[in-house]
Amino acid sequence: MTGDSTRKSATAFAPASVGNVAVGFDILGHTVAALGDKVRATRRAERGVAIRSITGTVADLPLAAEKNTAGMAVLAMCRELSLPYGFDLDIEKGIPLGSGLGGSAASAVAGIVAATALVDERLDRTELLKFAMQGEAVASGSVHVDNIAPSLYGGLVLTVGIDNPFVKQIPVPDTIRCVLVHPHMVLPTREARAILSKSVPLSDVIWQQANLAGFLAGCFTNDIALIRESLLDVVIEPQRQVLIPGFVEVKRAALAAGALGGSISGAGPTVFAWVDAADAEKVRVGMVEAFARHGLDSDSWVSTIDRAGARVVGD
Ligand code: HSE
Repeated sequence: MTGDSTRKSATAFAPASVGNVAVGFDILGHTVAALGDKVRATRRAERGVAIRSITGTVADLPLAAEKNTAGMAVLAMCRELSLPYGFDLDIEKGIPLGSGLGGSAASAVAGIVAATALVDERLDRTELLKFAMQGEAVASGSVHVDNIAPSLYGGLVLTVGIDNPFVKQIPVPDTIRCVLVHPHMVLPTREARAILSKSVPLSDVIWQQANLAGFLAGCFTNDIALIRESLLDVVIEPQRQVLIPGFVEVKRAALAAGALGGSISGAGPTVFAWVDAADAEKVRVGMVEAFARHGLDSDSWVSTIDRAGARVVGD
């Protein structure tokens, strides 16, 4: 990817994402086309990065560039390239805070895609991924790629490795849709990571490995029965479900309405289900009603898992 240093500003959109996709904790994620963040980068003569504005679903995020995911991602690029100039950023949040829909990653990705449209240096997508990872780390306190990689590349994405990441877009059968239900509560990623046990029984590791392998094989071979069998998180979901009121009932409602499987989206509290397109509306309504029985209003979406990742959408 290469930009154009004569250009003064660029606006990029980066889609929301479902992290983990049940079976690939920290390494597997897919985009949610319906939602996303936008960042406008404007070149300025002074070095460094300034956040000029934050608008949209969340406005009280850090304005200091080092503490802001978009700011830090762009700063990482400025430092790596020793750029003699800098950037002002205007961030428009479309993804709710602490929802488990990859909002911090989307801002980092949109920031880096917008800023790289304004530089002459040639950068490949893996380099953009690494800059965005530095941005994501300021929000979650850890480096994980399952939101950054799909938001940047698009579709269902597996990432192997951190220092030298291999990123693979996995095909998804055409008939699959993702139902997402976001209950109106905030669950900080740091909190949802802090409760996780550091060790896992070997039998669960084996089961989860089989599920990840089966899920990927099912996607590659259009084997819906195998996807249904393997879309099951036996390691993380049992530990985190207590953080989401009604989770067990919401998941049960999704399965009863025909979902292939589902789990917590990223660190939660959004719950997602993979469904055949024909069952999507029934599953969505069942999940929304189950949250309502636990006193939680929610927003909900039915999304395709399309392959469009972050992109420049204007000046
Ligand atoms: N994989 C991360 C987690 C995603 O589940 O903690 C956080 O958005």
